[in-house]
Amino acid sequence: MASGEWHCQHRTFLKNEIHEKDNENVPETGCLSIIVLGASGDLAKKKTFPALFNLYRQGFLSSNEVHIFGYARSKMVDDDLRDRIRGYLPQGKEGTDDISSFLQLIKYVSGAYDDLKGFQALDKAISEHEVSKSIMEGSSRRLFYLALPPSVYPQVCKMIKNYSMNRSDHGGWTRIVVEKPFGKDLASAEELSFQIGELFEEPQIYRIDHYLGKELVQNLLVLRFANRLFLPLWNRDHIANLQIVFREDFGTDGRGGYFDEYGIIRDIIQNHLLQVLCLVSMEKPISLNPEHIRDEKVKVLQSVLPIKDEEVVLGQYDGYKDDPTVPDNSNTPTFATVVLRIHNERWEGVPFILKAGKALNSKKAEIRVQFKDVPGDIFKCQKQGRNEFVIRLQPSEAMYMKLTVKQPGLEMSTTQSELDLSYKERYHEIVIPEAYERLILDTIRGDQQHFVRRDELKAAWEIFTPLLQRIDDGAFRPITYQPGSRGPAEGDELLERAGYVHTDGYVW
Ligand code: BG6
Repeated sequence: MASGEWHCQHRTFLKNEIHEKDNENVPETGCLSIIVLGASGDLAKKKTFPALFNLYRQGFLSSNEVHIFGYARSKMVDDDLRDRIRGYLPQGKEGTDDISSFLQLIKYVSGAYDDLKGFQALDKAISEHEVSKSIMEGSSRRLFYLALPPSVYPQVCKMIKNYSMNRSDHGGWTRIVVEKPFGKDLASAEELSFQIGELFEEPQIYRIDHYLGKELVQNLLVLRFANRLFLPLWNRDHIANLQIVFREDFGTDGRGGYFDEYGIIRDIIQNHLLQVLCLVSMEKPISLNPEHIRDEKVKVLQSVLPIKDEEVVLGQYDGYKDDPTVPDNSNTPTFATVVLRIHNERWEGVPFILKAGKALNSKKAEIRVQFKDVPGDIFKCQKQGRNEFVIRLQPSEAMYMKLTVKQPGLEMSTTQSELDLSYKERYHEIVIPEAYERLILDTIRGDQQHFVRRDELKAAWEIFTPLLQRIDDGAFRPITYQPGSRGPAEGDELLERAGYVHTDGYVW
């Protein structure tokens, strides 16, 4: 499908279906207030404000209609917040003019997260902005971005609902953006969903998983369902195993206290990698309607079999506990390889190997689809390795297909080479947007496709909660590995047992 067509179809159903529930007849333009709660925190400084700035710079946030409000406990004035943010905004070729004009759009309101006065003051500031734009009372668009720890979500949502949301008597909308971690296990996630769900309707809640905003993750459905080539191959008849891998070459870097409560499974695998798994394994949705897509994601999650202990390897890097915020007896894994098995007609018997680790020897995220051996091979080329289709999410976005070809020259011998679509080579002029940029734009447009629905979240926790409980109880212990290594050797052994065949000597 051509991108224009995709876009066009996408926008049509958005107008027809998505907007129905949370904001009937809302104009796509008009007064927009973006409220960043937790404005002085790390996430806001490093991700939210830079993403807003990039949208502004590209013309998606017009100063005629947009105002940005920072809300936090610290006592400061507008300029203090602007100064804190300034250094995180990427400078373009045009110099700093656009940075200054963007910063002028930001106002600061100080208040506690359970303080009605603070939220009333916030409401007053937003309303003044709306009045200054002469909009009809109540027809504004208010987007609340909770760059806050989930423990305060329920009380903050209650405050927004009672004191700061748009009173939708003339259309308009209020939307809430929340960040992971959404709970620590099935019960706490359900509790959180229930508390927020009592205050806001599901179409108003945008649960961000920033992996869904990455370019090559967004490409997965196009790749799978718009290419005839893949349709007959994408199943148990041809695919031997599929890996989804996340590696970082640094440790918990000052986030030890937070990380230790969660561990690598909650931090990366249960959300980011599982979302990718949904998109590579789900059935074709009946349309691009976000609900149709998310219905298919839920189905595949519900088809995942209970995880077996012998298909899990946990690791913890040597030195992790030197962080003073990490307890000396921590059992928290910083590495995990987990094999998931999907019990359905397409995938029965195919291992989906999810692997994530901190302090490893490289930094990348990729999907590696390994195909089965060629039956009746006359070239004896199994020693050359299998076909693999690799989608590199980052760094240097790329897709390549490992093929066996004739070694060029007079001899008849085979070698491995690749069909290579490296984005930098192919799309010189295009700057790939940051995940957060795209997702914030989606929330403004009311597009829920790349956000996690409540039942998806529940199904995701159902898969991992039993394993997490055993880790939390100390019944399952991580193996120590050296920082800068591939992780524990047992991880590679598990990969081999799951049927992955490594090709020696192939370098892409
Ligand atoms: C976050 C995790 O969700 O994702 C971090 O909490 C991790 O631990 C980060 O470093 C990785 O994101 P990205 O986009 O750099 O791959």
